[in-house]
Amino acid sequence: MDVLVIGGGGREHSIVNKLRESEQIDMIYATPGNGGIDQVATCIDIKDDDVDQLVAFASDHMIDWTFVGPEVPLLAGVVNAFQEAGLNVFGPTKEAALIEGSKDFAKEFMNKYNIPTANHQTFTNVDEAKSYIAEQGAPIVIKADGLAAGKGVVVALSVEEAIAAVESMLVDNQFGEAGSRVVVEEFLDGKEFSLMAFVHGENVFPMVPARDHKRAYDEDKGPNTGGMGAFAPVPDLAAPVVEEAIEKVLRPAAAGLLAEDRAFTGILYAGLIETPEGPKVIEFNARFGDPETQVVLPLLENDLLQVMIDVSNGDDPRLKWRDAYSIGVVVASKGYPGAYDKGVALPVGLDAVPDDCFVIHAGTDKRGDDYVSTGGRVLLVGSVQAESAAAQAKIYDYLRIFDKVDGFFYRRDIGF
Ligand code: AMP
Ligand code: GLY
Repeated sequence: MDVLVIGGGGREHSIVNKLRESEQIDMIYATPGNGGIDQVATCIDIKDDDVDQLVAFASDHMIDWTFVGPEVPLLAGVVNAFQEAGLNVFGPTKEAALIEGSKDFAKEFMNKYNIPTANHQTFTNVDEAKSYIAEQGAPIVIKADGLAAGKGVVVALSVEEAIAAVESMLVDNQFGEAGSRVVVEEFLDGKEFSLMAFVHGENVFPMVPARDHKRAYDEDKGPNTGGMGAFAPVPDLAAPVVEEAIEKVLRPAAAGLLAEDRAFTGILYAGLIETPEGPKVIEFNARFGDPETQVVLPLLENDLLQVMIDVSNGDDPRLKWRDAYSIGVVVASKGYPGAYDKGVALPVGLDAVPDDCFVIHAGTDKRGDDYVSTGGRVLLVGSVQAESAAAQAKIYDYLRIFDKVDGFFYRRDIGF
């Protein structure tokens, strides 16, 4: 079979790598892909949300299966368009993906189906938001309703900070339309984890839990990012907590979406916080997490294409997981998640990766034999080992090549 992976980030590089293990696959295309994906698949220069071009490409090349990586094409209706064209595609329709596309929708949905989450109120009026914040006090969490590439959340430690955040969203339009509605949410304290599952209608097949490091700098300091590193599984998470999250969050969410006529097929991602009352939802995503995928997929023993086919057919894919620790550290452009330079040269010799590490590209482009940066998150270095300390040692040893060049940074405490 020939397959297409839509997207061009680290998550998609990881998906392509997993699909390459499948004996059923001849050709793998990626749109648009990146400098790393280009080494292992055929990259085609179509933007990931150019729905018409994507459908035309898949039809012309008789693609047997398409996997959609990022949220933007999902919410642009790429799955709807592929289905209308009679093409096999794995991912939710835009109606189902709204669980990620609108935080207000997700909150109302969770309340309706008794899915545990922080208390909230949604505002379009800045004065009403401000008086609610003043009444609730800090810490308090401010979230842009729509998509903001992981940057639309402010955990405000003071009322002033919270008010500044709603003003920048509702008055200064920092996130444009995505921030024209704002969810103001109760602050939850506890350990976080990400739980993803393959979902089709009511069927839920969970993956191993992972944890993302969202803050930019060591010791969880600095601004929120898309994710600076991850590990899986999560040793400090008790098995009954994961079980509770499956039963009280993932299953009711899948069943609720079906009941709402928004039946979900694809990867459902719950971002959770372990509280004294049990796990509560911080966010839903309608896709694989990034960078969680880069550490979870290397633990999957199954043929990923066969999993998509089985799940889409309503069958149990019988997921099997390696009993090992998987860790990944992100290298980012200096300045990320704020402004940063692009086109910065990556270290020479980047491809000389030791056998027990892997490099997943996110924002890179090939220039001759070498690479330049094209994004905030540039790449991830990962390793799968029997002990987490061994994985960390191998990753951080290889990462020393980044200490000799300027323009990049990475956290030194991932998985510690
Ligand atoms: P999100 O983009 O919704 O995953 O939020 C980004 C990060 O903000 C999360 O990973 C949490 O660390 C933090 N966060 C979001 N919502 C809350 C909340 N209600 N209480 C505490 N922290 C939160
Ligand atoms: N790592 C968080 C996300 O993918 O949204």
